[in-house]
Amino acid sequence: MSPHSPSSLSSAVSLADLAAIAATTIERTAWDYYRSGAWDETTLARSEAAWRELEIHYRGMVDVSQRSGRTALFGRTVPCPLMAAPTAMQRMAHPDGECATARACSAAGLPMCLSSLATTALEEVRAATTAPLWMQVYIAQDRGFTRSLVQRAEAAGIEAFAVTADTPVWGVRERDMRNGFRVPDGMRIVNLERPGGPTGHSGVGIGGALSWTIDATLTWRDVEQLASWTSRPVVVKGLCRPDDVRAAFDAGARGVWISNHGGRQLDGAPATADVLAACASAAAGRGPVVVDGGIRRGTDILRAIALGADAVAVGRPILWGLGAGGEAGVARALEMLRGEFELAMALAGVRSTDEIRTLGPDLVRRRT
Ligand SMILES: Cc1cc2nc3c(=O)[nH]c(=O)nc-3n(C[C@H](O)[C@H](O)[C@H](O)COP(=O)(O)O)c2cc1C
Repeated sequence: MSPHSPSSLSSAVSLADLAAIAATTIERTAWDYYRSGAWDETTLARSEAAWRELEIHYRGMVDVSQRSGRTALFGRTVPCPLMAAPTAMQRMAHPDGECATARACSAAGLPMCLSSLATTALEEVRAATTAPLWMQVYIAQDRGFTRSLVQRAEAAGIEAFAVTADTPVWGVRERDMRNGFRVPDGMRIVNLERPGGPTGHSGVGIGGALSWTIDATLTWRDVEQLASWTSRPVVVKGLCRPDDVRAAFDAGARGVWISNHGGRQLDGAPATADVLAACASAAAGRGPVVVDGGIRRGTDILRAIALGADAVAVGRPILWGLGAGGEAGVARALEMLRGEFELAMALAGVRSTDEIRTLGPDLVRRRT
């Protein structure tokens, strides 16, 4: 830790401070699993940098005394266009894992998307939050399993499904290979346990034992099929191209999620900040556009909304909050982002997310 790093949650003032604390509390191979990107990590590095390249051409002399980040998502109103992205195995960051994230999201009134590689039963997570709860799904080779998982999740009150499109096969994280990363003892990928299959996945590599949970044959037809299994909205997560955005809606999706999986799948994929505007235009009001990847400041939320997103999601910052202080740490991470966003709105001379979107490319411009 650098001499200036905060030593406790109360002294953390930015997400970077939470990351510095979490780096000291999370076991090293788990920390590497969380922080890694694929291959040379070029997409990972670019993801954060690309937001910073967008300048905010603020307006002066606007009465910003009344402002709000309120946003509607699938019929629910949230106080800020911010949600927790699905990240695997949150119990590696803190024993309370996904339930701590859910409780912090509940207190903030912000949506959470649960990973299908969660270490807590989806019903338990549902019980821990009154805020919107979505679930991420991989369409498994065993379609019957995915169908029953989706139906079980819908019965438990999951409000939307995010089907991941960027994982026909697992990306390669070399740090995990060097570390020989394995699911830690006592940890269960509990929602993916099959009747008659092994209980728990301790000691197995994610790629090996869970290879049946993804499928290289997937096409848009499978999205159509998944959408027919549930009355809840299906969002396709992991898109970077306008034609795929259109294809997702044509296949029955009711929203799209622009993402490169936090740089963990195809290294060389574009930063989401660079493709968001074109993807949002392709969505053309057919449903909400979520974006993630490298969002670290409230100003990044403002940039994303100006480029056409309805909401942003954060992955690693939630894990940093968990590592730094469980539920209180996640609450702190969400509070930092929301507070910074509201401040950034005031400083930019805007009062609502609609206004940010309307001003769009006039407010947020690439440096010339
Ligand atoms: C440790 C880790 C695990 C992840 N697990 C999943 C997952 O199970 N399913 C999924 O669709 N995306 C997963 N993601 C991708 C996130 O949902 C999200 O797209 C990404 O983390 C956003 O980038 P950020 O971490 O820079 O905020 C994971 C990301 C990380 C860092």
